[in-house]
Amino acid sequence: MEVIIEKEAGPASGSAAQIIAKCIHEKPDAVLGLATGSTPLLLYKELIRMHQEEELDFSSVRTFNLDEPVGLPEEHEPFCSRFMWSHLFNHINVKPDNVYIPDGRRTEGSAACLEYEQTLVAAGGIDIQVLGLGPDGHIEFNEPTASFSSRVRRRTVPHHDTAMGFGTVRDARMNLLLAFGEGKAAAVAALVEGPVAAMIPASILQHHACAKLCIDEAAASDLKLSEYYRWVCAGNPERQRVA
Ligand code: GLP
Repeated sequence: MEVIIEKEAGPASGSAAQIIAKCIHEKPDAVLGLATGSTPLLLYKELIRMHQEEELDFSSVRTFNLDEPVGLPEEHEPFCSRFMWSHLFNHINVKPDNVYIPDGRRTEGSAACLEYEQTLVAAGGIDIQVLGLGPDGHIEFNEPTASFSSRVRRRTVPHHDTAMGFGTVRDARMNLLLAFGEGKAAAVAALVEGPVAAMIPASILQHHACAKLCIDEAAASDLKLSEYYRWVCAGNPERQRVA
Protein backbone atom coordinates (compact mmCIF):
# COMPACT_ATOMS: atom_id res chain seq x y z
CA MET A 1 0.00 0.00 0.00
CA GLU A 2 1.32 3.45 -0.88
CA VAL A 3 0.48 6.15 1.64
CA ILE A 4 0.77 9.67 0.20
CA ILE A 5 0.57 12.28 2.96
CA GLU A 6 0.10 15.95 2.03
CA LYS A 7 -0.32 18.91 4.35
CA GLU A 8 -3.96 19.53 3.47
CA ALA A 9 -6.88 18.06 1.55
CA GLY A 10 -6.24 20.32 -1.49
CA PRO A 11 -2.74 19.03 -2.31
CA ALA A 12 -3.76 15.45 -1.40
CA SER A 13 -6.65 15.71 -3.90
CA GLY A 14 -4.17 17.20 -6.38
CA SER A 15 -1.94 14.11 -6.01
CA ALA A 16 -4.95 11.86 -6.62
CA ALA A 17 -5.90 13.91 -9.70
CA GLN A 18 -2.33 13.54 -11.06
CA ILE A 19 -2.57 9.77 -10.71
CA ILE A 20 -5.88 9.75 -12.62
CA ALA A 21 -4.62 12.15 -15.29
CA LYS A 22 -1.52 9.98 -15.87
CA CYS A 23 -3.77 6.95 -16.31
CA ILE A 24 -5.97 8.81 -18.86
CA HIS A 25 -2.90 10.03 -20.78
CA GLU A 26 -1.61 6.45 -21.01
CA LYS A 27 -5.02 4.92 -21.71
CA PRO A 28 -7.51 7.43 -23.16
CA ASP A 29 -10.42 4.97 -22.78
CA ALA A 30 -9.59 4.28 -19.12
CA VAL A 31 -12.35 2.94 -16.89
CA LEU A 32 -12.74 5.00 -13.72
CA GLY A 33 -14.69 3.82 -10.68
CA LEU A 34 -16.14 6.89 -8.98
CA ALA A 35 -17.56 7.67 -5.56
CA THR A 36 -19.87 10.23 -3.98
CA GLY A 37 -19.50 11.90 -0.56
CA SER A 38 -17.76 15.12 0.46
CA THR A 39 -14.25 13.61 0.24
CA PRO A 40 -13.82 13.41 -3.57
CA LEU A 41 -15.19 16.92 -4.21
CA LEU A 42 -11.77 18.60 -4.38
CA LEU A 43 -10.50 15.79 -6.59
CA TYR A 44 -13.40 16.34 -9.02
CA LYS A 45 -12.74 20.09 -8.94
CA GLU A 46 -9.10 19.51 -9.86
CA LEU A 47 -10.04 17.11 -12.69
CA ILE A 48 -12.40 19.81 -14.04
CA ARG A 49 -9.57 22.34 -13.86
CA MET A 50 -7.24 19.95 -15.67
CA HIS A 51 -9.87 19.46 -18.37
CA GLN A 52 -10.48 23.20 -18.79
CA GLU A 53 -6.89 24.44 -18.49
CA GLU A 54 -4.74 21.48 -19.51
CA GLU A 55 -7.02 19.76 -22.01
CA LEU A 56 -7.34 16.56 -20.01
CA ASP A 57 -9.57 14.62 -22.38
CA PHE A 58 -12.43 12.49 -21.02
CA SER A 59 -14.04 11.85 -24.42
CA SER A 60 -13.23 8.13 -24.41
CA VAL A 61 -13.17 7.60 -20.62
CA ARG A 62 -15.79 5.24 -19.18
CA THR A 63 -17.03 5.73 -15.59
CA PHE A 64 -18.78 3.36 -13.20
CA ASN A 65 -20.16 4.59 -9.91
CA LEU A 66 -19.94 2.58 -6.72
CA ASP A 67 -23.52 2.73 -5.56
CA GLU A 68 -27.00 4.21 -5.76
CA PRO A 69 -29.90 4.25 -3.27
CA VAL A 70 -32.84 2.03 -4.21
CA GLY A 71 -36.56 2.68 -4.07
CA LEU A 72 -36.70 6.47 -4.44
CA PRO A 73 -39.96 7.65 -6.00
CA GLU A 74 -39.93 7.84 -9.82
CA GLU A 75 -40.03 11.67 -9.78
CA HIS A 76 -36.77 11.86 -7.74
CA GLU A 77 -33.64 12.08 -9.79
CA PRO A 78 -31.38 9.32 -8.42
CA PHE A 79 -29.02 10.70 -5.75
CA CYS A 80 -25.63 9.54 -7.05
CA SER A 81 -26.50 10.41 -10.61
CA ARG A 82 -27.46 13.97 -9.63
CA PHE A 83 -24.32 14.30 -7.49
CA MET A 84 -21.98 13.10 -10.24
CA TRP A 85 -23.49 15.24 -13.00
CA SER A 86 -23.47 18.34 -10.87
CA HIS A 87 -19.95 17.91 -9.39
CA LEU A 88 -18.11 16.41 -12.35
CA PHE A 89 -19.77 15.16 -15.52
CA ASN A 90 -21.44 18.45 -16.54
CA HIS A 91 -18.05 20.16 -16.50
CA ILE A 92 -15.91 17.71 -18.48
CA ASN A 93 -16.29 16.14 -21.92
CA VAL A 94 -17.30 12.64 -20.79
CA LYS A 95 -19.92 11.12 -23.12
CA PRO A 96 -23.24 10.40 -21.38
CA ASP A 97 -23.22 6.91 -22.98
CA ASN A 98 -19.94 6.19 -21.20
CA VAL A 99 -21.37 6.98 -17.75
CA TYR A 100 -22.65 3.99 -15.77
CA ILE A 101 -24.42 4.32 -12.42
CA PRO A 102 -26.41 1.48 -10.83
CA ASP A 103 -30.12 1.90 -11.59
CA GLY A 104 -31.82 2.13 -8.21
CA ARG A 105 -35.26 2.29 -9.83
CA ARG A 106 -35.16 -1.21 -11.33
CA THR A 107 -37.51 -3.52 -9.45
CA GLU A 108 -35.80 -6.78 -10.39
CA GLY A 109 -32.83 -6.08 -8.10
CA SER A 110 -30.55 -9.06 -8.65
CA ALA A 111 -30.91 -8.91 -12.45
CA ALA A 112 -29.99 -5.21 -12.38
CA CYS A 113 -26.93 -5.94 -10.21
CA LEU A 114 -25.76 -8.79 -12.43
CA GLU A 115 -26.17 -6.62 -15.52
CA TYR A 116 -24.13 -3.81 -13.92
CA GLU A 117 -21.36 -6.22 -13.01
CA GLN A 118 -21.40 -7.75 -16.53
CA THR A 119 -21.24 -4.31 -18.19
CA LEU A 120 -18.24 -3.53 -16.01
CA VAL A 121 -16.49 -6.76 -16.98
CA ALA A 122 -17.29 -6.13 -20.68
CA ALA A 123 -15.69 -2.67 -20.38
CA GLY A 124 -12.48 -4.43 -19.34
CA GLY A 125 -12.74 -3.81 -15.58
CA ILE A 126 -11.87 -0.75 -13.55
CA ASP A 127 -8.45 0.86 -14.00
CA ILE A 128 -8.71 3.17 -10.98
CA GLN A 129 -11.36 2.92 -8.28
CA VAL A 130 -11.76 6.12 -6.23
CA LEU A 131 -12.87 5.46 -2.65
CA GLY A 132 -13.85 7.54 0.36
CA LEU A 133 -13.64 6.22 3.91
CA GLY A 134 -16.23 6.16 6.68
CA PRO A 135 -15.04 7.07 10.21
CA ASP A 136 -15.69 3.44 11.22
CA GLY A 137 -13.52 2.14 8.38
CA HIS A 138 -16.28 1.34 5.87
CA ILE A 139 -15.96 2.00 2.18
CA GLU A 140 -18.99 2.93 0.05
CA PHE A 141 -21.91 0.99 1.54
CA ASN A 142 -19.85 -1.95 2.73
CA GLU A 143 -20.35 -1.57 6.45
CA PRO A 144 -18.43 -3.44 9.19
CA THR A 145 -18.81 -7.23 8.75
CA ALA A 146 -19.72 -6.99 5.03
CA SER A 147 -18.39 -9.99 3.10
CA PHE A 148 -14.95 -9.53 1.58
CA SER A 149 -16.07 -11.57 -1.45
CA SER A 150 -19.27 -9.69 -2.29
CA ARG A 151 -20.08 -8.45 -5.81
CA VAL A 152 -22.59 -5.82 -6.98
CA ARG A 153 -25.72 -6.43 -4.91
CA ARG A 154 -28.56 -4.76 -3.04
CA ARG A 155 -27.93 -4.01 0.62
CA THR A 156 -29.93 -2.61 3.51
CA VAL A 157 -27.97 0.24 5.16
CA PRO A 158 -30.60 1.15 6.55
CA HIS A 159 -32.39 2.05 3.31
CA HIS A 160 -31.82 -0.19 0.29
CA ASP A 161 -28.88 0.43 -1.90
CA THR A 162 -27.22 -1.10 -4.94
CA ALA A 163 -23.49 -1.21 -4.25
CA MET A 164 -20.36 -2.79 -5.64
CA GLY A 165 -19.04 -5.42 -3.26
CA PHE A 166 -15.46 -5.89 -2.13
CA GLY A 167 -14.99 -8.60 -4.75
CA THR A 168 -15.76 -6.00 -7.43
CA VAL A 169 -13.57 -3.33 -5.82
CA ARG A 170 -10.73 -5.85 -5.37
CA ASP A 171 -10.74 -6.52 -9.13
CA ALA A 172 -9.96 -2.86 -9.89
CA ARG A 173 -6.37 -2.55 -11.10
CA MET A 174 -5.79 0.33 -8.67
CA ASN A 175 -7.69 1.44 -5.59
CA LEU A 176 -7.24 5.12 -4.77
CA LEU A 177 -8.61 6.01 -1.35
CA LEU A 178 -8.91 9.58 -0.11
CA ALA A 179 -9.40 10.59 3.52
CA PHE A 180 -9.17 13.99 5.15
CA GLY A 181 -9.50 15.40 8.65
CA GLU A 182 -8.97 14.17 12.18
CA GLY A 183 -12.31 12.36 12.14
CA LYS A 184 -10.82 9.81 9.73
CA ALA A 185 -7.48 9.35 11.57
CA ALA A 186 -8.47 6.25 13.57
CA ALA A 187 -9.99 4.56 10.50
CA VAL A 188 -6.89 5.35 8.40
CA ALA A 189 -4.57 3.88 11.07
CA ALA A 190 -6.74 0.76 11.38
CA LEU A 191 -6.89 0.24 7.63
CA VAL A 192 -3.15 0.73 7.02
CA GLU A 193 -1.58 -0.69 10.17
CA GLY A 194 -4.24 -2.83 11.83
CA PRO A 195 -5.17 -6.44 11.10
CA VAL A 196 -7.35 -7.24 8.09
CA ALA A 197 -10.75 -7.59 9.69
CA ALA A 198 -14.39 -7.43 8.60
CA MET A 199 -14.94 -4.85 11.38
CA ILE A 200 -12.68 -2.47 9.40
CA PRO A 201 -13.91 -3.12 5.85
CA ALA A 202 -11.27 -0.88 4.22
CA SER A 203 -8.50 -3.06 5.72
CA ILE A 204 -9.13 -5.44 2.78
CA LEU A 205 -7.04 -2.97 0.76
CA GLN A 206 -3.98 -4.50 2.46
CA HIS A 207 -4.55 -7.47 0.15
CA HIS A 208 -4.69 -5.32 -2.98
CA ALA A 209 -1.60 -5.28 -5.21
CA CYS A 210 -2.01 -1.58 -6.01
CA ALA A 211 -3.74 0.44 -3.31
CA LYS A 212 -2.83 4.10 -2.87
CA LEU A 213 -4.00 6.45 -0.14
CA CYS A 214 -4.03 10.23 -0.62
CA ILE A 215 -4.55 11.73 2.81
CA ASP A 216 -3.91 14.96 4.68
CA GLU A 217 -1.78 15.33 7.82
CA ALA A 218 -4.84 15.31 10.09
CA ALA A 219 -6.04 11.97 8.71
CA ALA A 220 -2.46 10.64 9.01
CA SER A 221 -2.10 11.72 12.64
CA ASP A 222 -2.67 8.25 14.18
CA LEU A 223 -0.28 6.41 11.84
CA LYS A 224 2.73 4.93 13.63
CA LEU A 225 4.96 4.79 10.55
CA SER A 226 4.10 8.11 8.90
CA GLU A 227 7.78 9.13 8.60
CA TYR A 228 8.48 5.90 6.78
CA TYR A 229 5.58 6.50 4.32
CA ARG A 230 6.87 10.01 3.63
CA TRP A 231 10.37 8.67 3.03
CA VAL A 232 9.08 6.03 0.61
CA CYS A 233 7.02 8.65 -1.25
CA ALA A 234 9.93 11.05 -1.51
CA GLY A 235 11.99 8.32 -3.15
CA ASN A 236 9.29 7.21 -5.60
CA PRO A 237 10.46 8.12 -9.13
CA GLU A 238 6.83 8.21 -10.37
CA ARG A 239 6.02 10.91 -7.81
CA GLN A 240 9.16 12.86 -8.66
CA ARG A 241 8.06 12.89 -12.30
CA VAL A 242 4.52 14.18 -11.60
CA ALA A 243 5.63 16.74 -9.00
C1 GLP B 1 -20.84 7.24 3.25
C2 GLP B 1 -20.75 6.77 1.82
C3 GLP B 1 -19.33 6.50 1.38
C4 GLP B 1 -18.44 7.66 1.77
C5 GLP B 1 -18.44 7.81 3.27
C6 GLP B 1 -17.61 9.01 3.70
O1 GLP B 1 -21.16 6.25 4.13
N1 GLP B 1 -21.56 5.61 1.58
O2 GLP B 1 -19.30 6.28 -0.02
O3 GLP B 1 -17.12 7.39 1.31
O4 GLP B 1 -19.74 8.00 3.75
O5 GLP B 1 -18.29 10.20 3.36
P1 GLP B 1 -17.56 11.58 3.27
O6 GLP B 1 -16.70 11.52 2.06
O7 GLP B 1 -18.67 12.58 3.08
O8 GLP B 1 -16.79 11.76 4.51
